[in-house]
Amino acid sequence: MVEQGFNICIIARSEEKIAQRLEEITKEFPKVRTFSVVADFDKIHTIEDYKTQIGDQLRFLDIAMLFLNAGVSHVGAFADITNQEVQEMVSVNALQPIYCAKVLLPIMLKRANRGQRSAIVVTSSGLGGRPVAGTITYSAAKAFSSFLAQGLSYELEEQNVDVLSWECGPTQTKMMRGRKGAKLLSPEAAVKGMLRDLGKERLTYGVLKNDRSSSLFMAMPSGFINRMMFKAMKGARERRIKEGLQ
Ligand SMILES: NC(=O)c1ccc[n+]([C@@H]2O[C@H](COP(=O)([O-])OP(=O)(O)OC[C@H]3O[C@@H](n4cnc5c(N)ncnc54)[C@H](OP(=O)(O)O)[C@@H]3O)[C@@H](O)[C@H]2O)c1
Repeated sequence: MVEQGFNICIIARSEEKIAQRLEEITKEFPKVRTFSVVADFDKIHTIEDYKTQIGDQLRFLDIAMLFLNAGVSHVGAFADITNQEVQEMVSVNALQPIYCAKVLLPIMLKRANRGQRSAIVVTSSGLGGRPVAGTITYSAAKAFSSFLAQGLSYELEEQNVDVLSWECGPTQTKMMRGRKGAKLLSPEAAVKGMLRDLGKERLTYGVLKNDRSSSLFMAMPSGFINRMMFKAMKGARERRIKEGLQ
């Protein structure tokens, strides 16, 4: 986004990470203006709190693009994951996009009144399209965020706001916790695939759109996929617990 001339505002929970990222950006792109808000989406629970902690701080900005990307996943059988893990996944993956969109949309619509376009991207997940055993809460929360984005894309199309649900595929990030052996996308390739479809689609799988193995995966019977995924997720959680990673 910076390369394309956007000024940047980061909303994130770690002041240290925000400062580091903004320093990297301004070092490389000195003309870019930056802004930040510190917010932990696992600790904000009402729209009113989103408004006072985030919306009120951003009301003077001209928001051209809102990228609702924060997410968290914990894998394991529903009965085994902790209450805190369930709450965190619902708060960050489902409540955060809908509450952020609710408090920031009025600011974005001011652009529409001036005849300017804007965009909202909600990062969902390929797992939001299937009730996958072993990641039920994550899948359900991502399905919620995907429905939100797709619905908004219809409501807002006549107000010059493009909304996209990005059903991202497996990507090499912190979330994959060093997972090896799988076919993982680079974050750069994943984002490029998403941006290609922004303004053209309501939902995209990004670069996986034309990927044969993912089409095959989507075409397989749900029962088979769910059992296979559950086995894989269960094994992954057991390994992570053994390694002290989760
Ligand atoms: N990686 C994949 O294979 C994959 C596949 C499908 C969808 N996705 C989705 O892609 C999005 C980006 O994830 P990623 O892969 O880049 O993983 P990541 O590196 O773990 O990034 C997740 C981001 O969400 C932030 N976050 C988590 N909990 C938060 C909270 N309580 N408050 C504020 N921010 C919080 C994290 O902040 P901190 O840095 O402070 O932890 C981090 O910036 C997520 O929505 C994820 O569900 C990822």
